[in-house]
Amino acid sequence: MSADSLYTRMSEAPTTSFDVSLRPPAFTEFCGQEKVKERLLLMVQAAKLRGDVLDHVLLSGPPGLGKTTLANIIANAVGHKLHTTSGPQIDKAGDLAGILTNIERGDVLFIDEIHRLAPAIEEYLYPAMEDFRLDIIIDQGPNARSIRLNLPKFTLVGATTRAGMLTGPLRSRFGLVNRLDYYSVEELCRILQRSAGILDIDLAAEGAVAIGRRSRGTPRVANALLRWVRDFAQVRADGRITDAVAQAALDMIDIDDDGLDEMDKRLLETMIYKFNGGPVGLGSLAVAVGEDESTIEDVHEPFLILQGYIKRTPRGREALPAAYAKIGASPAGAQGSLPL
Ligand SMILES: Nc1ncnc2c1ncn2[C@@H]1O[C@H](COP(=O)(O)OP(=O)(O)O)[C@@H](O)[C@H]1O
Ligand SMILES: [Mg+2]
Repeated sequence: MSADSLYTRMSEAPTTSFDVSLRPPAFTEFCGQEKVKERLLLMVQAAKLRGDVLDHVLLSGPPGLGKTTLANIIANAVGHKLHTTSGPQIDKAGDLAGILTNIERGDVLFIDEIHRLAPAIEEYLYPAMEDFRLDIIIDQGPNARSIRLNLPKFTLVGATTRAGMLTGPLRSRFGLVNRLDYYSVEELCRILQRSAGILDIDLAAEGAVAIGRRSRGTPRVANALLRWVRDFAQVRADGRITDAVAQAALDMIDIDDDGLDEMDKRLLETMIYKFNGGPVGLGSLAVAVGEDESTIEDVHEPFLILQGYIKRTPRGREALPAAYAKIGASPAGAQGSLPL
């Protein structure tokens, strides 16, 4: 496995059986995000006490932090069915009608990447969320008429990696808006130990720390690295994941001590050597490193900003001193071409 395939997996987030088996089914097994968990639990309890349906919930945050997992947990907690779709999958009002008419009272509709819903679909969603009705226009021209569908009361759980791209009207129709944060190394260690238990992997405490520290605060990355390190430990060691085994395994896929992968480092090098430290626009940067704009924006950039390597300004991205230190360049002598 290369670091590239690891992050392709992260950004596109296909659900593998590996993901499913490791996905915590209940709040009690979901590590970290204590505030978000507490709020959601309280909402679920209150709705149950009133015999009411849970209010709509928005979950935002970078890929791999547990949004889909939480949607599943919410459906389990209220004891109703989960219906899953995503913004780009709904391109006609009829698609939305098809989904909504299959829903029963109390069910959870999960719309992933909700910021990518077409504006026209959003318009249909407002009355569905607010008044549980759907007005669809059928036919065209003089025959056009609107029919009203009354819907059972349901819970919409929306997930987005870009809370900022959500329109105001859509955002305001959620009862609760939750932002997921990156996880601490301790929390990642707990997640790794849980995964190791499920997969029957011999993971020493120091081995977990070594993996957790390089997981960019992201459970999906932690689990993917664990899978790689397990393979490595089986072939190159006696199967047990110690600190040394984890380090050697992660070195082999070019993940450094701070969890930066090849693409992170290429981004920093490109900013410094090709664009003189910036400011540089996302488009130019994407072309220069040969990576998708959205992968840079969703996966790499938030982590590099959080770690203080780069900052975003109105004129573009700029490299900070930590970036120069990371790639061993001096800010003054950085002009020139990439060392090859
Ligand atoms: N808090 C958590 N505790 C344990 N495992 C988690 C947690 N959050 C995420 N995971 C794991 O990480 C994987 C990715 O989470 P997911 O919910 O798909 O992220 P997102 O939808 O935000 O991209 C899941 O399969 C799950 O195994
Ligand atoms: Mg997801």
